[in-house]
Amino acid sequence: MKTAIVIGATSGIGREVAASLVREGWRVGIAGRRQEALAAFQAEFGADKVSTAVIDIMAPSAVTALDALIAETGAPDLFFHASGVGYQGSDIDEEKELRTIQTNCDGMVRMVAHFTNFVKAHPDVYNAAHKAQIAVITSIAGTAGLGSAAAYSASKRMQSTYLSAMTQLARMEKLPVRFTDIRPGFVDTALLDPERRYPMLLSREKASRCILKAIKRKRRICIVDWKYRALVFFWRLIPRPLWERLTFISN
Ligand SMILES: NC(=O)c1ccc[n+]([C@@H]2O[C@H](COP(=O)([O-])OP(=O)(O)OC[C@H]3O[C@@H](n4cnc5c(N)ncnc54)[C@H](OP(=O)(O)O)[C@@H]3O)[C@@H](O)[C@H]2O)c1
Repeated sequence: MKTAIVIGATSGIGREVAASLVREGWRVGIAGRRQEALAAFQAEFGADKVSTAVIDIMAPSAVTALDALIAETGAPDLFFHASGVGYQGSDIDEEKELRTIQTNCDGMVRMVAHFTNFVKAHPDVYNAAHKAQIAVITSIAGTAGLGSAAAYSASKRMQSTYLSAMTQLARMEKLPVRFTDIRPGFVDTALLDPERRYPMLLSREKASRCILKAIKRKRRICIVDWKYRALVFFWRLIPRPLWERLTFISN
């Protein structure tokens, strides 16, 4: 039986990916801040297949809680980091801007760095024949700075750069770990504003299918889905001075 740890499995994409893994026969350790959502997931799928831990990735104690979750679940083949926050608006809310950076950047680094060190510390489990896989949900929002989501798009760019750097480090140090950067377009979750309409909106199920395919194929980067791959291709061609003048972009 394969095992996975999913951080941010209480709702949205992380919950859908965790549920799909359990349905495929994986043993899964799930985490998030909402105890009741974790308990509901465990009740739905069974304590023999699901372990839970309340983890706030902003808290330094998150790493101790992660160690305990790993001890209960077993050393995972896959570490899936889905936790993240974001909001859209032009009001420059300082508190929200900082919370976005702290959750998406500090929180993600705290968990990914700690798990990478866990891999390093367990050569009996992880080696050239059995590499751990670390997948993080970043976003296509990291492609360029979005005026209506400044901290969010910057945090997503940081996440992708961090994963790129960690991939190089893993090669330099011959660490038995692979990194997958998952970059979805709009997915129908609580992260989006229910009052807005989003182009090319993906269902959680569709996004989860694309993500699991990329994980199984051990992709380095996966833009979810093909329509967004096409969009990002053209988006990258827009020169920065022109992009910064595109004031009609509100998403
Ligand atoms: N939806 C989209 O259109 C879209 C597009 C591109 C990328 N993404 C990315 O996908 C990821 C998942 O978001 P989602 O769309 O599935 O939204 P979501 O339903 O709001 O899920 C966010 C998850 O992050 C967890 N989380 C937030 N803050 C946390 C903290 N301090 N500690 C631990 N867990 C925390 C939440 O759990 P608790 O509240 O229980 O802690 C929840 O499980 C995010 O990184 C987001 O940026 C989403």
